Amino acid sequence: MIIAIDGPAAAGKGTLSQLLAERLDLAWLETGSLYRAVALRMLRDGSDLRDSRTAVKAVEHLDANDLNDPELRREDVGQAASRIAANPEVRAALVGFQRDFARQPPGRVRGAVLDGRDIGTIVCPDADYKIFITATPEARARRRFLELQEDGNQGDEQQVLATTLERDARDSERSTSPLRPADDAYLLDTTNLSIDAAFAALMAYISGSSDCILG
Ligand code: CDP
Repeated sequence: MIIAIDGPAAAGKGTLSQLLAERLDLAWLETGSLYRAVALRMLRDGSDLRDSRTAVKAVEHLDANDLNDPELRREDVGQAASRIAANPEVRAALVGFQRDFARQPPGRVRGAVLDGRDIGTIVCPDADYKIFITATPEARARRRFLELQEDGNQGDEQQVLATTLERDARDSERSTSPLRPADDAYLLDTTNLSIDAAFAALMAYISGSSDCILG
């Protein structure tokens, strides 16, 4: 079983994907961490983010440890990730790994949940379930601001809103794999939903689509 979850920054994709993975016994791939890991490597090396050759080399040198680096969550890394994510060569270099993960997830699991921007449209267009999670920019900026505070970072909520909007615009307007819902995606707006309520809505959608996977 493959579940594809897409949506803009801080809409709740990560938390909800993790909960679905636990409940349904699925492996979880946060595909944003791949773009973030490439960006972090390039920032550390002082590379020009527009340099395709260096970016593709960074993809080739990614290893599992890179995906667990706590620095990946930095705001500047998110911004840099969205810059390199607009590069078609970087996207092409990453798509195989994501599809392999979806088809043959690690461990003894029943399938995979992948979250990102183009999972339902490009990476796994044949996914069993496609979900697009959104929320107003203000709600998403507030959540990201609180997350940053929890991690001990000082931040300014207006600044977080501005960078979130900038990243959304870049992700939605790029010509390769722009952020958009698949035509057959289930849309969930989490602006006024708690995580529990959003999770319940997703479980209702999934169990309504098919009985067999929940048994
Ligand atoms: O966690 P958050 O929603 O803030 O971002 P993320 O999922 O970690 O993704 C970081 C950036 O990677 C996004 O702004 C996108 O530009 C890019 N990305 C992408 O282009 N395609 C994906 N499947 C996942 C992420």
